[in-house]
Amino acid sequence: MKFLAFLSAALLSGVALASGSTYPLDKAPVDLSNTVSLQRGAAAFQSYCSGCHSLGYMRYSRLTDIGLTDEQIKKTLLPAGAKMGDTMGIPMRPEDAKSWFGVRPPDLSVEARSRGADWIYTYLRTFYRDDSRPTGWNNLVYERSAMPHVLYQLQGELAVEHAEGAEGHAAPKLVKVSDGQLAPAEYDAVTGDITNFLAWVSEPAQDARVRMGFIVIGFLLVMLVVVYNLKKEYWKDVH
Ligand code: HEC
Repeated sequence: MKFLAFLSAALLSGVALASGSTYPLDKAPVDLSNTVSLQRGAAAFQSYCSGCHSLGYMRYSRLTDIGLTDEQIKKTLLPAGAKMGDTMGIPMRPEDAKSWFGVRPPDLSVEARSRGADWIYTYLRTFYRDDSRPTGWNNLVYERSAMPHVLYQLQGELAVEHAEGAEGHAAPKLVKVSDGQLAPAEYDAVTGDITNFLAWVSEPAQDARVRMGFIVIGFLLVMLVVVYNLKKEYWKDVH
């Protein structure tokens, strides 16, 4: 009995550790059928993230799946010198990235599957000023992240406020220190679009697969009616 209690405690603490930060995640507005949001997310990713992060499983040509034409992709998203068949890469050399940040900015192709969309969405909205960090930034869901707050001009600067004298572990609160170019709701929309885009990138066929599922079920239901009536027709003289 004691051993069982020990075992479950050990296992549970493993779970708690594996989840990392306990900061509560916000629900990401993921909607893979919203192509306008996916297109805005792709554009924002290209402007703000692609300098450091690659999407090694996504080709520029595949962006036609979110409703962009070849012309639009070439004009707005394709970096100079890249070809439509190329994967979405980074102009930075991996060694440089490593020496600048201490770690290589990871490829984000399957990030929405490994961390989850809610994690990414909350991560992008919880950077705060922390002068003890080499970048000057820290993050509530990814403590001591080596990534600087690349969207601070949009969001403005936040600082963390620890609830004084609170019992237990009250979640830290973020307060605005200076305004950015966007209102909070607009900033949520931009980061929501980027998250939606990354969710699509991590499983580009998902929306099509769900739709195919409905078509298959619909087909089976229609066939059920047809077959049932056929059976009635065939057997009506027998009974
Ligand atoms: C200046 C370079 C740089 C830019 C630009 C940048 N990042 Fe990062 N990012 C990093 C680095 C470095 C890390 C690794 C952090 C670590 O592990 O401590 C990182 C980590 C991440 C992670 C967590 C990866 C993981 O699971 O460990 C996510 C998600 C992420 N970035 C998303 C984005 C998004 C979205 C954008 C665009 C809005 C962006 N990044 C722009 C450098 C950058």
